[in-house]
Amino acid sequence: MLQTPGLSGKPNGKGNDNLTNEPSLTHIIPLISPKLIAPAEKLEALAETYGTPLYVYSSSIIRQRCQTLAAAFPDLPVSWLYAIKANDNPHILNLIREEGFGFDTVSYEEVLLSVKTGQRPDRIFYTENNMTDQEMLAAVDAGVILNIGSFSRLEQFARLPHTSECSIRVNPQIGDGHHAKVDTGNRDSKFGIRLDLIPEAVAMAASHGVKITGLHIHIGSGIQRPQNLTQAMKVLLDIGRALPDLQRINFGGGFPIPYRENEHPFSIQEFAQAAHPLLAEELDRRNGALVFHFEPGRWVVAPAGLLLTRVNTVKDQGRITFLGTDTGFNHLLRPAMYESYHAVVNVTRAAEPSAEEYTIAGNICETGDILAEDRMLPQTHSGDLLALCDAGAYGMTMASNYNRRSLPTEILIDDQGNDRLIRKREQADEIVDRFLRESFFTP
Ligand SMILES: Cc1ncc(COP(=O)(O)O)c(C=O)c1O
Repeated sequence: MLQTPGLSGKPNGKGNDNLTNEPSLTHIIPLISPKLIAPAEKLEALAETYGTPLYVYSSSIIRQRCQTLAAAFPDLPVSWLYAIKANDNPHILNLIREEGFGFDTVSYEEVLLSVKTGQRPDRIFYTENNMTDQEMLAAVDAGVILNIGSFSRLEQFARLPHTSECSIRVNPQIGDGHHAKVDTGNRDSKFGIRLDLIPEAVAMAASHGVKITGLHIHIGSGIQRPQNLTQAMKVLLDIGRALPDLQRINFGGGFPIPYRENEHPFSIQEFAQAAHPLLAEELDRRNGALVFHFEPGRWVVAPAGLLLTRVNTVKDQGRITFLGTDTGFNHLLRPAMYESYHAVVNVTRAAEPSAEEYTIAGNICETGDILAEDRMLPQTHSGDLLALCDAGAYGMTMASNYNRRSLPTEILIDDQGNDRLIRKREQADEIVDRFLRESFFTP
């Protein structure tokens, strides 16, 4: 059986319906694969112009996804936050802010980045994670919404002079996620204040004159069973009943996207339908004096980005034929870290039928540096351009200089289809010189 030309993955016999709502540049040339965010010819030209490895993002896809979320609860006070850890390129932050989103941040550095790229402090939610005293003071000074995830930190916060309110992160004892490493809501996870400690935590804060005005959960990333999220929402809403000062309830992020060709997309509309009665009931109870938040990251940006890489080596190792590329887990960590699947397209031969099975390897000196295993692709040659799809989230933000290599270039295709450099790659000389400078080394 032949697959979609140029698209990797085992044949599944099902229609590829997972990105049917995506906008595309198909008004110019039809996309050869629904996972390519621009026509193959355009991607080839971008790789020529900017070199590889190259992250390519589409602003129109990001905007459209923001608008889909914003329309999900038209009659309820839902204020959307974008979890900037998914992709924090300043130009991408800019366009998501322009779409009316606040930001969810998880470090003081992310708070600063949000402020410096123009986000209003009162639209920045800072979910701390083992924050230091200095970070706490700086966050208070910055005027962001502080979301505290441990009893001891709450106590330190409540003891500060001039603090009167904060939000707390609850461990709802319901977790989910695409991998155990991103399940944050289970009872053994390091996140959130233990469920049975919440009344004590609230009383302790009150004894220092601090009101709990916000409640938060984030049960995990890439949620597999949306019922787990609605269940955890109920847990949080129940806790909220005992808190008269509550102004906001944040249900976290975690909305999944279909990485595999045969996966069904998570329907925002269906989720909104299930969540609506819970929110509406709580709003009624509080006579409308409440704001709800969700803070997705992946769902907003993952399908809007891909990583372009050149094949340098085609190596038949007997049982496996490797395509050796000019990128690796230092640029896209998800496959090595979470065994994640990213569809791979041979952009150069996008119109040719899949013919051979390949494993796509990175150029990092580790056996585990495998980007994709056992993928059917057109017969591939050195010099071919590959696209690692759905790489807009947790791609560049998790990239590193391991093996002393530079980070990839990033470009953004704007709403008119024009490309713009949004982060340049360091040359080998530059990266080594910077490293030596930062290490106070003089040759
Ligand atoms: C506190 C918090 N909120 C939101 C997110 C965003 O998750 P996702 O990208 O799966 O929507 C994360 C990521 O794990 C997170 O840690």
